[in-house]
Amino acid sequence: MKKTTLSNGISYDMLGFGTYKITGEFDAKSAVLSALKVGYRRIDTAVFYENEDRIGLALKETDIPREQIFITTKLWTDVNTYQKTIDRIQKSMELLGVDYIDMVLIHWPHKDVKETWRAMEDLYLQGKLRAIGVSNFKEHHIEEMKSYVRVKPHVNQVELHPEFRQFEFVEYLKKENIQVEAWSPLMRGEALTLPLIQEIAQKHNATPSQIILAWDMMEGIAVIPKSTKESRMQENFDSLKVELTNDEVIALRKLNNGVRRYRDPDNHGFGNQ
Ligand SMILES: NC(=O)c1ccc[n+]([C@@H]2O[C@H](COP(=O)([O-])OP(=O)(O)OC[C@H]3O[C@@H](n4cnc5c(N)ncnc54)[C@H](OP(=O)(O)O)[C@@H]3O)[C@@H](O)[C@H]2O)c1
Repeated sequence: MKKTTLSNGISYDMLGFGTYKITGEFDAKSAVLSALKVGYRRIDTAVFYENEDRIGLALKETDIPREQIFITTKLWTDVNTYQKTIDRIQKSMELLGVDYIDMVLIHWPHKDVKETWRAMEDLYLQGKLRAIGVSNFKEHHIEEMKSYVRVKPHVNQVELHPEFRQFEFVEYLKKENIQVEAWSPLMRGEALTLPLIQEIAQKHNATPSQIILAWDMMEGIAVIPKSTKESRMQENFDSLKVELTNDEVIALRKLNNGVRRYRDPDNHGFGNQ
């Protein structure tokens, strides 16, 4: 596994497993058990995904010791007071069946981040969370936080894929010692047909998803590809074996068109902005 170290000194797998939309018939319990079997040790969920309980069942069933698995969950925008934050994290612990959570993120920026963060900091300082971070925060959100935080975010999970690379923002986060993580790294599957990615995949006897994930990790960007199929989980996991050349990375960077595919954090429409 490729690893990095977060600013608080804890070890962090560059490759994790995403679970958005793994609910109902695509059961998150069996998906997480498959992902653990393949070798993933970092699982990304959120209150919004409504699958923490099913992931909890997978954690109960697996033989892999709890301390070898890193679990991230995220708080929705309605968790906007100190007490709601404490209570919701407690509920996530119960649903996941754990007595600590590795990392909690604020899912989208909202107007009460200060209060939410204060509660997250307290739980972090009490040892109930091993790391705390944000998601979909832009530079101005981070700059504002810097004026009041006791603990700076350890991670920022943002939209990042072949067509939306956020080069300057990634540099800014690196300077701030905040680990960047790409959500929808495969552009929800749509990046797999881009001709340049297919061409480089052929050269490496690899697949398009492996090229994209290897590229991100080479650039110091953590990834959390999602799949409901064990064969694709394995394919994505095997991106760890792919090494690109610097020239290939330079060529791939030209795929950036700077256009978001999904919601803009300044106008996300999820309430409490
Ligand atoms: N913080 C946020 O606001 C936020 C937002 C979005 C996502 N996320 C997180 O990021 C994770 C990943 O993002 P995502 O799920 O939106 O998109 P993604 O990982 O870029 O792509 C997932 C899609 O690609 C398909 N796929 C996966 N591996 C494949 C492969 N090797 N070959 C062909 N198709 C493949 C999957 O289909 P199958 O399932 O059918 O294989 C699924 O449709 C999420 O699950 C979630 O944990 C966070």
